[in-house]
Amino acid sequence: MKSEKERRIAQAKEAENRQKDRILSCPFRMKYHVMPPVGWLNDPNGLCQFQGVYQVYFQYSPLNVNGGGGFWGHCTSRDLLHWEYQDPVLTNDCPEDQSGVYSGSALIEDGRMYLYYTGNVKLPGNYNYIDKGRISSQMMVTSEDGQQMSEKTVVLGMKDYPDDMTAHIRDPKVWKEHGKYYMILGARKRNFDTGIRRDTGCALVYVSKNKKDWKLDYEILPDENFGYMWECPDLFDLEGKRVLSFCPQGLRAENERFQNLYQSGYSILTEKMSPEKGFREWDMGFDFYAPQTFEDEKGRRILIGWAGVPDTMEVHRNLSVDHGWQHCLTIPRELRVEHGVVCQMPVRELDLLSWKQEEGTACCFGREMVKIEAKMQGVHFADIRIGTGQNELTIHVEEDRIRMAFLNEEGKPSPCGGGRKSRIGRTASPVKTVLVLIDNSIVELFVNDGELAMTSRIYLEESERSIAVKGCPDCRIWKAEE
Ligand code: FRU
Repeated sequence: MKSEKERRIAQAKEAENRQKDRILSCPFRMKYHVMPPVGWLNDPNGLCQFQGVYQVYFQYSPLNVNGGGGFWGHCTSRDLLHWEYQDPVLTNDCPEDQSGVYSGSALIEDGRMYLYYTGNVKLPGNYNYIDKGRISSQMMVTSEDGQQMSEKTVVLGMKDYPDDMTAHIRDPKVWKEHGKYYMILGARKRNFDTGIRRDTGCALVYVSKNKKDWKLDYEILPDENFGYMWECPDLFDLEGKRVLSFCPQGLRAENERFQNLYQSGYSILTEKMSPEKGFREWDMGFDFYAPQTFEDEKGRRILIGWAGVPDTMEVHRNLSVDHGWQHCLTIPRELRVEHGVVCQMPVRELDLLSWKQEEGTACCFGREMVKIEAKMQGVHFADIRIGTGQNELTIHVEEDRIRMAFLNEEGKPSPCGGGRKSRIGRTASPVKTVLVLIDNSIVELFVNDGELAMTSRIYLEESERSIAVKGCPDCRIWKAEE
């Protein structure tokens, strides 16, 4: 008889096989980005390099294009660009994760992989699922090959969290430091300070000597409320700086800041400053959330984000849904620190693709990856148009301001944006360089060698795929030949 896990994974594979032709013929599939084989994808999970091979897991809903979860999808790569899809590795098959195998991370030690994730339970009944009705457990599995997982172990449960926390505690990121293991969790603390309820987003750090028994080490709390919940925290060292990455929910939009529904960003931690003070958004585009980092065998700190944001159905709609799938992950990005800013550039493996330069500053493109490199010396602006005048994304760069807009020549939203409108990013000084990567239905912009990144999905028919750059003659367009 099949186990519950086997039965569920067979269901996922049946959905993948049944819709294979439909998915493959979709005009929006990418070449070098992680996508769901079918259905929905959200956060990247368990990022690592294991036995020389890059492993990316992801929140996966093969049975529903609009999400709902149920699986950790899996793919592997030797160069962070060409991905091979494997079978899902986790599904909700035990009492502690009956409503979801939520996000988590990987720790590699002595040739073994340890995966930590949150088991979510939503009890049936009339609950608010904040204080009651929800059970969040932190779970561990181990693996010798990244594919076959051991039995699940519960390493933290509701009794192990501080009393003033709500039931929203999730997304363990685990690492080893000075001979001990640490786990950071995103959390939502109850707060009635002002007389009305205004919960406080925060993070909990647990410590362990053996990877299984954990105890609370410290809490990371903002001085002033900064969102009601922090999701997907990550804590790592980069060039001597301690970086806290987290996704606060509930920040009010400000002029040119926090323009998406939920935010993700980081703070460089200092003794004196509370983490919300130096908070900087990772990406100023429309589609970026829940990033996770890992250190690869070369010692690089690499970040991969979800090129999407939760709960955005009301404001924009991905046109790939009609083809049975939605969302993807970003291109993996190498991190470095410059002038107190964590800069992100696509992994250097990208240079190893076979690039062919186009003549001039305009061209058409198909399903191949395109790279636009512009240098802004001596020019006032650069205008990069992707699409046709009626249906296009424009990227306008002038001084320190970068605007991405899906507004066509008549000022109306272009269909290729699926309802997206415009976003603005700023650099500390006037823009010097712009790199645009287009992989079919995703555009990623890296300004001033990664000081600023902007990510957006774009849905152009193949007949509409043209590029024109104006105002900036020092510009090169390249296509990757397979
Ligand atoms: C972030 C998130 C995580 C959670 C996961 C569930 O997008 O809400 O906090 O673990 O998605 O899919």
